[in-house]
Amino acid sequence: MHPMNVIVTDSPEQAFLCAADMITDEIRRSSTPVLGLATGRTMENIYRLLVQQHEAGALDFSGTTSFNLDEYVGLAPTDPNSYHHYMQDHLFAHVNMPANRAHVPNGIAPDLEVECARYEAAIHAAGGIDLQLLGIGETGHIGFNEPPSAFDSRTRVVHLDEVTRRQNSGMFGNDPERVPPRALTMGVGTILDARRLVLVAVGEGKAAIVNEALNGPISETVSASAIRLHDNTTIILDTAAASDWKRRTR
Ligand code: F6R
Repeated sequence: MHPMNVIVTDSPEQAFLCAADMITDEIRRSSTPVLGLATGRTMENIYRLLVQQHEAGALDFSGTTSFNLDEYVGLAPTDPNSYHHYMQDHLFAHVNMPANRAHVPNGIAPDLEVECARYEAAIHAAGGIDLQLLGIGETGHIGFNEPPSAFDSRTRVVHLDEVTRRQNSGMFGNDPERVPPRALTMGVGTILDARRLVLVAVGEGKAAIVNEALNGPISETVSASAIRLHDNTTIILDTAAASDWKRRTR
């Protein structure tokens, strides 16, 4: 197992700043960075900071390629609840990343298996992912890798856990039944292939699952525990998200 770099910040905002700084450094370090991106409430804050940097003239996305982790099956890119739409709204429309290099799995592809294979091939053709941004769900998922997900799983169609449909129901009128039951997601194996992983979690609601992922058994029933197998992982937590984890290791 590899030593994990765990950063605990005093506030959520500092956690977002810390993550945004790592992405900014990656973009400045390489002329052609390949970023793996995530969606959700946590990430909105990080994208807000990146957009601010870009608007201040301090961050150039012209050489950047990105691959998002996941998308709901059945939602068109124009659907306000799709992750395509989320990414446009929070990042792509506000920065100068070439549109043809901003990739999100296509949830309305006529053949989803073909789409998953195409997505894996596109990541490969881009030279692999340099930095993969990750959140963690209540089920311990990274991307939409619900338990159990094999550590060598690749981009595929998954059934969303009821817990996740509830977690994500805010965008769907608080009705878990309206959250699409299936999604396309990069696999745990796809994620582990990235050269660097950065997982961000804030808030008390994440404390138990963060502790489970970092201190519990490395197990396919907690997808996020797989990141401990990676040799370049940074975990950024605010004190609330780190509260259970700190107790156990003290
Ligand atoms: C979404 C994704 C998910 C989220 C996770 C946390 O693209 O990868 O794993 O990161 O569900 O979501 P929030 O930030 O909304 O708590």
